Amino acid sequence: MYWYTEKRMRTLLHMLGADAIHEVYGWFFCPKIFVGKLGLLAFSMMMASMCTRRRAFIVTDQYVKHLADKVAQSLRTFGFQVQIWDRAVPEPPLETVQECAEDMKKFEPDLIIAVGGGSVIDTAKAAWVLYERPGTNLKMLNPLFPVGLRVKARLVACPTTSGTGSETTYAAVLTDTSQTPPRKLEIASLELVPDYAILLPEFAAGMPPKLTVGTGLDALAHAVDAYFSSMATEFTDAIALKAIELILKYLPRAYRNPKDMEARYKMHIAATMGGIAFSNSGTALTHSLGHAVGKAFGIHHGISVGIFIPYVIPYYAKATDRYIDLAKYLGIEAKTNEEYLKKLVDLFKDFLRSLDVSYVLKDHGISREDFEKNLDVLAKYAYEDAVTPASPRPTSVEELRKLLIYAYEGKDVDF
Ligand SMILES: [Fe+2]
Repeated sequence: MYWYTEKRMRTLLHMLGADAIHEVYGWFFCPKIFVGKLGLLAFSMMMASMCTRRRAFIVTDQYVKHLADKVAQSLRTFGFQVQIWDRAVPEPPLETVQECAEDMKKFEPDLIIAVGGGSVIDTAKAAWVLYERPGTNLKMLNPLFPVGLRVKARLVACPTTSGTGSETTYAAVLTDTSQTPPRKLEIASLELVPDYAILLPEFAAGMPPKLTVGTGLDALAHAVDAYFSSMATEFTDAIALKAIELILKYLPRAYRNPKDMEARYKMHIAATMGGIAFSNSGTALTHSLGHAVGKAFGIHHGISVGIFIPYVIPYYAKATDRYIDLAKYLGIEAKTNEEYLKKLVDLFKDFLRSLDVSYVLKDHGISREDFEKNLDVLAKYAYEDAVTPASPRPTSVEELRKLLIYAYEGKDVDF
């Protein structure tokens, strides 16, 4: 049992998406953000005055430890004692989180900084919970459960990829290895939103082209879903639209020319904007479907969610006409609603092609036999996913199954 498979919690998630509740209850959470080299300096200076014990615990991994060293160096200049923990792994298993928390307890930091991609940041978030509140059952951590964080330490995130948005979000994605096969576990609490995010575009400049595309498409899926989400607000719309615009313009440049620092800067900003947008309004079906498919067939998270964009938009369009405003915002001209929709979907298909990513699922090395064997479970996992209730169109296992089949074949969604 996870918190989001519990019936009452799912009812509440559906309620949060209802129009009637928007004027009664809402929120907008966001970390304080520092940008660039001088931003790191300003951050270190501010922390020196705010952290009385000046003990910083940096969570990172083997690949970007050299970047964590740079953050540590800046903090040491301001009198911090720093411990670097570099054993984070992708899709962090609960055991790794536990190990990280144990080392945190021994060091007793008053500042925790994650330097890395989404998995590193998520490891730090979950370990921070166990450091602050030992014994917490992470599987049942949910947005309505007061945790009582920030008694011992503040949390800071310094992303080294441009996509996950984890530096801004109230969620962390872990792996529950007690399940067979291992299953994604999403923990969520509004208290998990990092206190600060440090955006250093040069930290993401080392990403190889494939990772640039994967993480960039993740950011795009966040922004698209955040815009269409039933929980979208005026705040999140403004941020999501700008993020979509920036990603469409700059991701191809960052992919084709990794040394294009203007594109790297814009993508780094856009990814955080996508994160802020979806953290406050939710992702929806790109992520429900992408989570299920990505995990089952070992496809990079960003690719697995990005390829569903051309399928979920026409699916949403049966329940909302917001695609018209998005199309107009992106400069599309059309005479009918159908034409707006077709041109918008084509724009995203062309965009994926420009990044050498096929939007057809069977092109991603999934055999028909494997796909059909897993189809029912994939549809069930997608339906039960924590983010599914944010779909602007109420969905079902059967319809998600159909969307998976259409995506596998590359068919235009017509239902
Ligand atoms: Fe994502």
